[in-house]
Formats: sequence, C-alpha cells, structure tokens
Amino acid sequence: MKYAVAIDGPAGAGKSSVAKEVSKRIGFIYVDTGALYRTVALYLLNNNIEASETEKIAEALKHIEVSMEHKEDGQHVFLCGEDVSHLIRTEPVSMMASTTSALPIVRSFLFDLQVEMANKYNVLMDGRDIGTVVLPNAQVKIFLTASAEERAKRRLLEYQAKGQDVSFDFVLQEIIKRDNQDMNRATAPLKKADDAVLLDTTALDFNEVCDKMIEIVSSKIPL
Ligand code: DC
Repeated sequence: MKYAVAIDGPAGAGKSSVAKEVSKRIGFIYVDTGALYRTVALYLLNNNIEASETEKIAEALKHIEVSMEHKEDGQHVFLCGEDVSHLIRTEPVSMMASTTSALPIVRSFLFDLQVEMANKYNVLMDGRDIGTVVLPNAQVKIFLTASAEERAKRRLLEYQAKGQDVSFDFVLQEIIKRDNQDMNRATAPLKKADDAVLLDTTALDFNEVCDKMIEIVSSKIPL
C-alpha cells in the first residue's frame, strides 16, 4: 500500500519549501504539481497562445509532452523532453499557469500523471486540489495558509534572491489576483478538503511549520 500526504493552499503559503524538507525527513517523493501547470503555461507563452484561446490550447495539448523526474536536488520538469525547471519560476508563468489551470482540458491533461505518481510511490504532493480531487483518499491532508501580506513578503524575498526586481505592492496584488482566480474557478477550485487539517503559518517560522507538519503526518501514518 502506498501512502499519500496531500498539501493544498494558496500561492506563497510556503507549501513547496516546507514540502521539500518534510518529504526528505519522512522519505517520501515530493511532487510539486504547480510545476506541471507552469510547464504547460510556459509552452503557451513560448508559442504566443493566449489564455482565452481555448481552441488553440486544446490543439497545443496534443503536442505537449510533460514529464517529471525526481533527482537528488529535487523534482525536474520536462517539456517535450527539455528540462525547463529553471524557466518556470517567473511572474508571467505564474499568472499564465493560474489562468490556464482553470480550464478543464488543462486539468484533465495533467490528472493522470499526478495519480500515476501516487500509485507508484509514497508521495507528499502539493497543489490546489490534491486533497479534494486528485488524491481524495490520501491518508493525510493539510491545508497550508498564511495572510496575503505574509505570503507576499516571502515571495518577494524569493524573487530578490533570484535577482528579479519587483516591488512588494506588485507581488501582493499578483498574490491577491491569483488567490481570486484559484479559489473562484468552476473546476477544482482551491479549497480546504473537509477532512484536511488547517495549518496557518503566518506566525510560524520555517522549522516550526516543518515540525508541525511532521507531527500531523506521524499522527496518521506509521513513519
Ligand atoms: O503552486 P504554484 O504557485 O506553482 O502553482 C501555479 C498555478 O498552478 C496556481 O496559481 C494554480 C495552478 N495549480 C492548480 O490549479 N492546481 C494544482 N494542483 C497546482 C497548481
């Protein structure tokens, strides 16, 4: 039997950094599903396809091949065989991923890949609809959140560390806009599963969040 930990929450709640650390500690494969939506978004941006051009997107999906590999340094995503992991963490890709992930054709395109991973490995998977749609039977579900201001602060630091020059207000507005898009879409909106544990990280530091999460996981899965 495979174990699954589903982590959902809004942009910038710290899902990926915490999930990476916790998965290492418990020996599970970390699956970052946002990276898959970002990879599709990157293809669309590269090919000048707009989020509103659903027919072109449907056509494009016939040619897009998305895959992932888990290496020593974490998850890598591939677009038609090319490792694009370093190209997907930009603001335009974030926004395009948020907009196009509302489309059912994009969601169903990526669905099987996510379920396959959970069938093969013990996974800690993060996203927006993991506990509600992708892995509704996950043994552990956590909804990770923090205030929009705190999330913007954390995102800003990430951008600055990568030398990307953006203002706090810009990042905050983008986060609020993405929250709205992700929570209000018709298909698989971001929401807490009824059986998920709510973890608000606004006042917690990285280690405290990791410890809390391990505590929740070990109360439900024999580690
Ligand atoms: O987790 P992230 O910020 O890398 O995700 C980028 C976008 O992809 C996010 O705004 C919404 C979408 N997404 C989704 O709809 N479902 C998921 N399971 C993961 C991400």
